[in-house]
Parts: sequence; structure tokens; C-alpha cells
Amino acid sequence: MRLTILGGGGFRVPLVHRALLADAVRGDAPISEVVLYDRDAARLRAIGAVLGRQRDAHRAAHGEPKLTVRAEADLAAALDGTDIVFSAIRVGGMAGRVLDERVALSAGVLGQETVGAGGISYGLRTVPVADRIARTVAERAPGAWVVNFTNPAGLVTEAMSAVLGDRVIGICDSPVGLGRRAARALGLDPREVSFDYAGLNHLGWLRGLHAGGRDRLPDLLADEAALTSFEEGRLFGAAWLRALGALPNEYLHYYYMAREAREAVAETVAGGGPTRGEQITAQQREFYRDAAGRPADAFALWDRTRLEREETYMADNRRAAGGVERAEEDLDGGGYEKVALAVMRAITRDEPARLIVNVRNRGAISGLDDDAVVEVPSLVDASGARPLAAGALTAHQSALVHAVKSAEREVLAAVRTGSRTPALRAFAFHPLVDSVTTARTLLDGYLAAFPELREVLPRP
Ligand code: G6P
Ligand code: MN
Repeated sequence: MRLTILGGGGFRVPLVHRALLADAVRGDAPISEVVLYDRDAARLRAIGAVLGRQRDAHRAAHGEPKLTVRAEADLAAALDGTDIVFSAIRVGGMAGRVLDERVALSAGVLGQETVGAGGISYGLRTVPVADRIARTVAERAPGAWVVNFTNPAGLVTEAMSAVLGDRVIGICDSPVGLGRRAARALGLDPREVSFDYAGLNHLGWLRGLHAGGRDRLPDLLADEAALTSFEEGRLFGAAWLRALGALPNEYLHYYYMAREAREAVAETVAGGGPTRGEQITAQQREFYRDAAGRPADAFALWDRTRLEREETYMADNRRAAGGVERAEEDLDGGGYEKVALAVMRAITRDEPARLIVNVRNRGAISGLDDDAVVEVPSLVDASGARPLAAGALTAHQSALVHAVKSAEREVLAAVRTGSRTPALRAFAFHPLVDSVTTARTLLDGYLAAFPELREVLPRP
């Protein structure tokens, strides 16, 4: 089977490649061919150098890899007849991420790539491209499964599902990361725990950890030491988790500690420090500049940069929460590639797995329509991902989910109609934008910053 990676020059591609190589050793790996597509040839060459080192190491240990890799410069050709598509693109590149952040900060609201104003801007820019990709998949590879990592992942998956139906599955590593950390805090093997998680991407709650025939979440909430032994516990604090009765996804820090989280970023930037986009750009500059020309060092350069990125992940939030440290086990890439591979294995081998993914609701969360993409435990096998019924959300969870989904829907309407009024509503409806006047400032600011957005939204 062939896997096409859109965004093949992306920084995390070697993680996926490493996992595929490991699979290939066992001999029964379904994927035998990888096609990398990227609009940026230089980035592709840098990543290609890392993959080359990984293949050398593989060759030395196990012989010639049973996995070929090639680059393809044309999107339609890259997708033609492929079996699986990983889509992990960044429309506008890191420079776009920085503008998403900076325009929001200038308007006095949170600057983050997926949450709040920044996420809306990123979504407005990304949805038209995701739509074009979905149409090309439908035309060139109608039987393919699309695994979408492209952020904002829930919104982008919903946009693609309008074309591809349930053949697109959105993924994120944060729910599984939360589950794993919570299980370990209880001394449980995460593989033996069934997680009751529900919400939207970057907006969900772990409401139960079922193991040995009972829910162990109450035990965890009662145990102060265990509760503060992992990142989310320290970010939110034991008292708030108990009051809430659930464990929020780490991105909910931007909502529950909205003021502190926003001020922490604003403070960094006011002190001349970088936004997250600027920080990552600086971290990765040397790698993308030098790796292709120094192939022998490419892997070491990449690995060092990867560790630095993981170490500084959500640093402002952790500082806002009183100097929370990252645990050693969270520096290994967060399991991004593991989630992707788990979905792919379940589909290609028809090995049913219960995975938390982004799919059309189809009744899983009551009160949301069937087409709303939600992030819930789903049964994944050769027939795709079917969401499992989730217990009802609390009124509070439901209110937040509906508020954010309504903003997402306005983004989709804005792109579909080419008009700015739904885009204004998207900013204004978002719970982290506190005034319609600010929403207007944001829309104007993003239109000024992004010429391509003026093309997406030509009409009032
Ligand atoms: C987590 C999130 C992703 C995000 C990633 C990188 O894995 O779930 O959606 O892309 O972190 O964040 P960063 O700030 O390092 O780009
Ligand atoms: Mn994510």
C-alpha cells in the first residue's frame, strides 16, 4: 500500500518514517511505499536528509528497508491512486503562524495557533486549501483514507468531511497523552484503561478512566500527590480538577486560566521575547538551513531541535501556572506518530481499535448535529472510524463546545460564501474574544496581514 504525506517537509515526518520502518521489520507492514509532497523543496530536502540517516541506521541493523520513499512535486500525481493520505500542512508557513499570533496579541486577545482568534484566522486561511485537497483526493484516489493532522484539526476535518464524508479522520495526540499520564499517575498500564473522553479538538475532557471493572477517576481526584504528578494536574491544580470533576485537555488552560494564559504570552512578547511561532522558527532555522548540505549531521541536528521544541512546548502556560516542569516522558514527541500509526494499522489491517479521533458526530454527543466533527473514542477498523456513544456532556461542557462549534461553523460559512460577515461572527462568537469591537479589529487586522485572506473573503 502507498502512503502519501502532504507536508512531507514537515518537522515531524521523521517520527512517522521511524515508526513505519519499525513496522517494516516485522515483515507484515501494509505500507510499502511513501510519497512525500511539499510545496517547499528546500524543507523537503532537509527532511529527506534525516530520512536518509534513518534508513542507513535501519540498513545497518536489519538490511535494506522494505519501504521505499520518494518525493513528488505535483499534488495530483502525489495523490493518484494512493491508499492513505496523511495531511499535515501549514498554510502560510511559520510566518503565517506568527501573524496569527501577533495580530491577536495587538488586539489584546490570546495569540495561539489553534485556540481563539489565532485559530480562526488560521482556519479561514486553511479551509480553502483543505477543501482543494479533499476534492483532489476524491478525484484521484476515491478509495483512500485521509488522516488529518492539519490544524485547527477539528475544523479542518469537518471542512474535508463535506467532500470526503467519513473517509477523513482527524487526529491529535493530546487526548491520548492526557489519558496516558492520568493512567500512569494511578499506577495503571494505559493499555488496560478505557478512557471516557469527549469534546472537540483541543476542547475536551477526560470524564472517566475505566479499569478492572470500575471508574478510577474518583480515586485520582482524591489523591493529591497522584493528581499533581503529571502535567495537566499541575497546570490546572488539584482544587480546580476536583471542583470540575473531570480532567481537561491541556488546551483548556487557555479557557480556564484565560487571563493568566493570555497575559503570560503578552508578557513574553512585551519583554521582547518570541511568540511560539517565532520560537519554533528560531529553533528550526539552523536545521532547515543546514541539514541538506550536511547530511551526515542531519539526524543529530533534527533530534536536538526536536527535543528543544518539546522542552519549550506551552512554556508560557506552564509559567502562568507557577512554573510547571515538563516530565521526562513527555519529551518524546507526545506520541504524535503513534496515534497516526494506530489509526493506519486499524484501517489497513482491519484490526479493530478503540481510538480517540475526530469524526462526524452521528449521535455520539447528544445535542450536536450528525455532521459536527467531534473528538471522541471511536471504533476504527477497515470500514473507518465510528464514534462510540459518549455519555452526555455536562451543561458547562456542552455550552463551551457549542460556543466554539458555532464559531467554527461561521468560519466554514465565510469560506463557502466568500463573505466577511460570517467571519466577523466567528471572531465575535468565540468565548475568548470579549467584544464585537475587538472582533472587528481582528478581522481587519488579519485581512491587512494576509493578502490571501482578502481573496478568500472578497465580499462584505
Ligand atoms: C500538540 C498538539 C498539536 C500541535 C503540537 C505542536 O501535539 O496537539 O496540535 O501541533 O502540539 O505544538 P507546537 O507549539 O510545538 O507547534
Ligand atoms: Mn492537536
